[in-house]
Amino acid sequence: MDEILHLEKEFKSKIDQSDNLHKIEQVKSEAFGKNGKIGELFKKITTLQGEDRKNFASNLNKLKDNINNLINSKISLFEQEEINKKLSEDRIDVTLPGRPITFGKIHPVTQVIDEVTAIFGEIGFLVAEGPDVENEYNNFTALNTPPHHPARDMHDTFYLGQNKEILLRTHTSPVQIRTMMSGKPPFKIIAPGRTYRCDSDQTHTPMFHQVEGLHIDKNVNMGHLKGVLDYFIKKFFEVDKIKMRFRPSHFPFTEPSAEVDIGYELKDGKIVIGEGDKWLEILGCGMVHPNVLKNCKVNTSVYQGYAFGIGIDRLAMLKYGINDLRSFFETDVRWLEHYGFDPLDIPANYRGYSR
Ligand code: PHE
Repeated sequence: MDEILHLEKEFKSKIDQSDNLHKIEQVKSEAFGKNGKIGELFKKITTLQGEDRKNFASNLNKLKDNINNLINSKISLFEQEEINKKLSEDRIDVTLPGRPITFGKIHPVTQVIDEVTAIFGEIGFLVAEGPDVENEYNNFTALNTPPHHPARDMHDTFYLGQNKEILLRTHTSPVQIRTMMSGKPPFKIIAPGRTYRCDSDQTHTPMFHQVEGLHIDKNVNMGHLKGVLDYFIKKFFEVDKIKMRFRPSHFPFTEPSAEVDIGYELKDGKIVIGEGDKWLEILGCGMVHPNVLKNCKVNTSVYQGYAFGIGIDRLAMLKYGINDLRSFFETDVRWLEHYGFDPLDIPANYRGYSR
């Protein structure tokens, strides 16, 4: 019993003398840590018998609880003091101006893809996709493009590897092939995406964007093509009337083929769509060539349809008055700040905020 009283005295005085968190934690480990004095004393219980053993154990437990409580309350006292000290030192200056909330902007190309997808979506076109890295077959051969065709030339096409089998797709038309190969008619899809050609000037960049359209069914004809394009152009440019002309053209994968121009005029240096006597080419189209349908195992005595390919970047330039195509891809944040679009989910009262 002496030992217990002795330890009680010893630790009480140590606790009293501890005047900071570090010291009291040391006392704690001296009492209860590995080989701690109070912990060690518990071993003695097994050496005692009968009443002695009972009394010793109960007194020792009391000591343990007592010292433990004293230590813990001192620890929380010191911790509280520390928190109070921090709070009084790090004061928050509520007069500082807030940090502005910054939001990124949507790139005009992304914006236009969203708009185009929404417009065609309303009239039943699904969105299809294909890879940027294509094989020669899907990009050319299946599209009825003969071996000597200039588009196949190294000057026009980025080939990957030596043997001209893999390339960066030169148009989104291979998605026509992928769509028809992997399903059964009817097909009614658009396919927006990146395309690549060896070309660079104010209106051409080596990477650009197209949206492909394909509609194959039993009675689809050129009148439908014209109607759909007329509907799309009016919706996209948000005008009631447009001047549109189908100019005969040639693509290996359509017959007949046409390029579509829309009428515009310049007002104070700005392009106004739908009026005037100037013409701008915006897309290529035509009735899908029977050879293409055959290559995709579509029964040409039952099915036919049209396809079109629109330059997305060109649409963006026209609609939003951007003159140099190359600026689209220079990743200049100031440019994006000017020409970009607010993400739709910015709360209205944040709209003023930006970088
Ligand atoms: N793929 C053609 C181009 O890139 C456009 C086009 C698509 C023409 C579909 C006709 C039909 O120029």
